[in-house]
Amino acid sequence: MFGAALPVALAYADLLVGPGVERGLIGPAETERIWPRHLLNCAVVAELVPQSCRLADLGSGAGLPGLVLAMMRPQAQVILVEPMARRTSFLLECVSSLGLGNVEVRRGRAEEYAGQIEADIVTARAVAELRRLAVLAAGLARPGGVVLAMKGQSAEQELIGARPVLDRLGATEAKVVEVGGEAVGLEGGAATVVRFRVGTSRAARRRHGGSSLNK
Ligand SMILES: C[S@@+](CC[C@H](N)C(=O)[O-])C[C@H]1O[C@@H](n2cnc3c(N)ncnc32)[C@H](O)[C@@H]1O
Repeated sequence: MFGAALPVALAYADLLVGPGVERGLIGPAETERIWPRHLLNCAVVAELVPQSCRLADLGSGAGLPGLVLAMMRPQAQVILVEPMARRTSFLLECVSSLGLGNVEVRRGRAEEYAGQIEADIVTARAVAELRRLAVLAAGLARPGGVVLAMKGQSAEQELIGARPVLDRLGATEAKVVEVGGEAVGLEGGAATVVRFRVGTSRAARRRHGGSSLNK
């Protein structure tokens, strides 16, 4: 699954189960599931990410999925957006220790960066319900950019609930995608992602009413 990125992934796993747990960024119970539930779960999403792109990971926490995608897509430029200082410190240490020259860490809430990042791809895992997340993610994407919201079994229901918001954003191609069905050892057998394309129409973005989306 990780290919050439495996040594970096192994080093990252050590950071997560060591300092990550010590500093309360990862629950101690997650140590045994760090590969199937976290690293593999994020790695399989790489199949939805082009080799070369600008990617923003909204609410990176301890770096999931942003750091995993950065190691698997070394030609991509990856921006990790995370408001909590304790987490951004850990992220910066990981970036330095893993030698990930394609990663930038920005401390702050997604709302603060709306209209400033213009990513081709915005990822998010376990950050907010889709109808709220869609607005935050759209603010980080370029017009026509793609949002990949990693969700669990609630994906279909959340997508139904978010339809009015997605329509107001002018989003297209919204659907639930399963990835990694062939990956050995992945918890749950596959990762569930809500994928949609952010609208290109300025009018549709303006109609939504968010000031950041009016830019
Ligand atoms: C449950 S954690 C998930 C972290 C990581 N994505 C993962 O899957 O392990 C949610 C993260 O989203 C961040 N977050 C919450 N609201 C945010 C916002 N408005 N903008 C950016 N990050 C946010 C939190 O600080 C936290 O690190």
